[in-house]
Amino acid sequence: MRLAIINGPNLNLLGRREPEIYGSNSFEDFFKSLQKKFSEIEFIYFQSNIEGDIINKLHEVGFDYDGIILNAAAYTHTSIGIGDAVKAIETPVVEVHISNVHSREDFRYTSFIAANAKGVIFGFGLKGYELAIESFL
Ligand code: DQA
Repeated sequence: MRLAIINGPNLNLLGRREPEIYGSNSFEDFFKSLQKKFSEIEFIYFQSNIEGDIINKLHEVGFDYDGIILNAAAYTHTSIGIGDAVKAIETPVVEVHISNVHSREDFRYTSFIAANAKGVIFGFGLKGYELAIESFL
């Protein structure tokens, strides 16, 4: 089983960015714990602040990986390009958000990804990534 975790803009600052919303763990440390917990799964982790790089990564893994866990962060709410890429590829995508986007500003209620995702998980902190992984098992 090969799973790709793709994080979008500003998620490289996890642990330092608005910890009251996003928690105080860095994604790198959390990723190590995921690799330990799900040792039977081959993971890749990719983070970018650049929309086109996220689209390129979706194209790269989207025809032969078993699953993609995508937190496109703010691009979720703005990027038709990322939404179209999720529609174009064959690998199922689970959309994840750390925070409960529906308890925040109205602009976070829109997702250009959700319609073509296998499912959406939000509001459970980093645990949401574990739930997404479990959805592929
Ligand atoms: C986020 C929610 C987005 O609205 C926001 O722009 C992010 C992170 C989350 O994981 O809660 O950067 O995707």
